[in-house]
Amino acid sequence: MTNIISDKVESITQEIINIRRFFHQHPELQLQEYATSKKISEILSEWGIENTIVAETGVVGLLKGSKPGRTVALRADIDALPIYENTNLKFASKNEGVMHACGHDGHIAICLGAAKILSEMTEHLTGTVKLIFQPAEELPGGAAHMIKAGVLENPNVDAIVGLHIWPDIPKGTVGITQGPIMSAVDRFDLTILGKGGHGAMPHKAIDPIAAGTHFLTSLQTILNRETDAFDRLVISPCSFNSGNSFNVIPEKAEISGTVRYFDSTFQNLVPRRMEELISGITHAFRCDYQFDYTHLCPVVKNDSEITNYLEQATRKMLGQEKILRIDRPALGGEDFSFYLEKIPGAFFFLGTKDEIKGYTNSLHHPKFDFDEEIIPIGIKAFTSFVFEYLM
Ligand code: NI
Repeated sequence: MTNIISDKVESITQEIINIRRFFHQHPELQLQEYATSKKISEILSEWGIENTIVAETGVVGLLKGSKPGRTVALRADIDALPIYENTNLKFASKNEGVMHACGHDGHIAICLGAAKILSEMTEHLTGTVKLIFQPAEELPGGAAHMIKAGVLENPNVDAIVGLHIWPDIPKGTVGITQGPIMSAVDRFDLTILGKGGHGAMPHKAIDPIAAGTHFLTSLQTILNRETDAFDRLVISPCSFNSGNSFNVIPEKAEISGTVRYFDSTFQNLVPRRMEELISGITHAFRCDYQFDYTHLCPVVKNDSEITNYLEQATRKMLGQEKILRIDRPALGGEDFSFYLEKIPGAFFFLGTKDEIKGYTNSLHHPKFDFDEEIIPIGIKAFTSFVFEYLM
């Protein structure tokens, strides 16, 4: 089977690279992926793959094997970013200020490549394959829209796999791990309300900046005094805005930031302790407050059984040397976690780092690009997983 897949991948690689370049040249922002989803749908239809547009800018394709069996989903995210491209590529973005700087053009191409090969091999397939092209990963939350639109039902999906092009690991490697691979992403927004006044007469005002600075100083004690040093937790206040004049005490101070973790017990602990600190400090400084804490994405936690299938498949297909154990999960988030809250699945990294060829820029960088040699590797990983799981 691995030989058949390899030959087929080789025969379509140039076509899929051209498809990747098309999507790279025509990026669209989250929830505006109308042309992208239309194009994906057209390509699938051209190859005879049944598909529908869902959640306005998403696409779901369906491939039925010759024998009934389980259903497996492959997921690709399709949105681009508000970044001015600076790659000098011949197929650079034609949509000014919008760029596929997160490799989602590659994800679309890889998922389409796998779809094409699987569509040519349905006589060997026992079960069904769902191809999920999802909008608005960067929001994040496109996954939630797709789930709400019913993509995990009819037929019910038993397992799901997704990947992300990853410039932090060597080109061509497949980064796999059991359990958490990407962190939860939360955000907090705090407004401290004081009383404005003249800078020369602070006793007649209530200074929200004083309360805000004390809050920021105390915030990190949640990490270094209240959690186990071996637990991984990041609390990053990233903006503090207050006042606009050298001699006016402002009425309010606004602080916002992000929280990352891999252990879901922090999901309740962190906002609770933050609010207790805020409440105590603002009370002590005679201020009021408004505090919002939002869970944007849960932890991306790989299922051990599905990860084993993925590892076996990629080992057979690509060789043991291409498998890289990820011992430090990423602190970035991925809304793939919403699928994993519903069904078992696995997410993996497809390495692109190549210092000799200069593929070293990080995701979201205006010069981010990847060597297209990784496209057939991604297609092989997806395709071999499907056969391994549906066997
Ligand atoms: Ni991304």
